[in-house]
Amino acid sequence: MNNWDDVKRRILETADLVEIVGDVVDLRHRGANFVGLCPFHTEKTPSFAVSSDKGIYKCFGCGKSGNVISFMTDYHGMDYSEAIKELARRYAIPLPEQTKSKKQKEQISKRELVMTALDESGKYFIKMLGTTSGKTALSYINKRGFSKETQKEFMIGLSPTGWDNLKLELEKKGFSDQLLLEAGLLVERDGGGGFYDRFRERLMFPIQDTLGKIIGFGARQLIDDKNQPKYINSPQTIVYDKSKVLYGLFQGKNEIRSKGYAILTEGYADVISLYQAGFKNSIASSGTSLTKDQLILLKRYCKKLYIVYDADSAGINATLRAIDLALEEGFELWVVALPGGEDPDSIIREHGNKLFQAYIKDAQSFVEFKYNYYKKEDKLSSPADMSHLIRDIIGNIVKIPDRLQHDAYISRLAALLNLSTRQVERIYKEKGKLESELAKSGKSTPKPPVEQQKPKVEDNNEIKEIDDNFVPDYSLLLTEEKLILKSMVLSSAVADYLIDTVEADDDRFITNEAKRLFHLLNGLRTEDDDLIKRIVSDETVHPKDVEFFSSLVLESNEISDNWKNFSKGVAVFDLIKPVMDSLIKLDLLKLDIELEKLTSKIKESLGSNLDLLVKHTELSQKRKELTNRF
Ligand code: UTP
Ligand code: MN
Repeated sequence: MNNWDDVKRRILETADLVEIVGDVVDLRHRGANFVGLCPFHTEKTPSFAVSSDKGIYKCFGCGKSGNVISFMTDYHGMDYSEAIKELARRYAIPLPEQTKSKKQKEQISKRELVMTALDESGKYFIKMLGTTSGKTALSYINKRGFSKETQKEFMIGLSPTGWDNLKLELEKKGFSDQLLLEAGLLVERDGGGGFYDRFRERLMFPIQDTLGKIIGFGARQLIDDKNQPKYINSPQTIVYDKSKVLYGLFQGKNEIRSKGYAILTEGYADVISLYQAGFKNSIASSGTSLTKDQLILLKRYCKKLYIVYDADSAGINATLRAIDLALEEGFELWVVALPGGEDPDSIIREHGNKLFQAYIKDAQSFVEFKYNYYKKEDKLSSPADMSHLIRDIIGNIVKIPDRLQHDAYISRLAALLNLSTRQVERIYKEKGKLESELAKSGKSTPKPPVEQQKPKVEDNNEIKEIDDNFVPDYSLLLTEEKLILKSMVLSSAVADYLIDTVEADDDRFITNEAKRLFHLLNGLRTEDDDLIKRIVSDETVHPKDVEFFSSLVLESNEISDNWKNFSKGVAVFDLIKPVMDSLIKLDLLKLDIELEKLTSKIKESLGSNLDLLVKHTELSQKRKELTNRF
């Protein structure tokens, strides 16, 4: 990787636009695309479309469009190089060397080395499962009901018995003890007399980042030993911060996105069992209680959360905490109550997934959960108890960013507690008081998106020129012209066919707008890229044209049913037919226009000009031929 263009190209290849936009917009599947409420203007019905495979977005309300880089500049208000750096960081794309200080370089190469050591360890632990010493571990895995595929999916392994197996193995591969210590794989002996393996004789659960790279481990004892912790986890390292990671998110992120919700459990075993039982949208916070950062991470993928913690007092406390945090982050929240002593893993194992599904279906809102909890704890018998519960719940409600939900929760509470109208009025008063307190402390108003009006600054610090006099009028385009341009943008095979085989040129079009756009597309063609990707990432293309082409690609199938086929990868042959038909229709129209002109000229010269008559006959004949093709 040696220049910024490479970085940019790799970002456009790697970055997941749905994920980036999904950070701030609740996106839903619609056909081949995703849609949601536009983050650039206020609207009530979604007109913001994102194409995951094309890597572009477009709002049909306000017209904003672009790619993953322009989303960072336009929405997050970054300048161009900030956007590139942020995306490169997020997708682990190395930046050109010269821009980094020596210290930064060292940090980066250390990060890479640590990641490599963790990756090697993961492979080693998996290998150990296959050796003779892995027999006990395998029978333990069988006993827990984890299938071969599940083992593979979660990269389950074994750290063998002994003090320095991994240490020796990785030393052989050239890793220093110091580095392995920094990776959290070794522990220093008391008094500094050398190092030993942190993980010994344990079932190894690699913890992966959202790209699937191993950043740490959870390690479970194989034999119950009350003198040892059941799980040992990786410590904080330069690549692992447990408060910012969700176990199972890598395996489950697509399912979470498509189902629109995640199932939050307490542990590694729950995530794995649920995944195997078909609840692939399960996650857990590993070795820590749920944090705000984990919820912010999860918000990229969904806005709805089912909390399924154990029914013991630790689990209930964790649930109460999670409720506060998740509501504040704007999640729609459901709490799944399990019978005492059970966790998702035990339910699945002993009763199967149907029962778990039923528990999910019966999930309670946080209002009901808190009400039931207070009741069970016998904290609802006195008026003081009651007001305690009410205050508790109002405290949650005022933090929900979507104010429309407030009324719904209050009426739920009123129904549960059988409150009178007067009492409900009082609740609203109380709520108003709390809200103004929050407003004073500056905590209630969510930050609006940064409005971006400044010109984009390129990395070389040249301000990009935007020609203000450029006023294209796309509404002048004829339907056939639009169809042809759209087809070219959607399929480079069609573009190639039109230009190389049919040898179509600008003059095949009728409007000047179409001629200009065709010319533009012709100039942007490359061997290896989709035209739309070129358009969106090429700085020489005017933003208005970028917007126009994006909307062509993302618009619904208003022109013809054939559009459906484009996204389905139908044979090029089938795509070419409507394009050729359109070309002929344009030819026809052109002839009609010319014929009309000639007719009026003939009329003017009162039939005295033979040449014109001959030409007229010629063209009429040609026209007939073309018409016969339909
Ligand atoms: P659990 O004790 O519920 O473990 O702890 P589990 O995942 O259900 O595992 P099994 O079914 O007994 O094998 C829940 C989570 O708390 C953390 C781990 O992340 C665990 O998955 N934990 C638990 C620790 O970090 N250390 C411990 O000693 C115990
Ligand atoms: Mn368990």
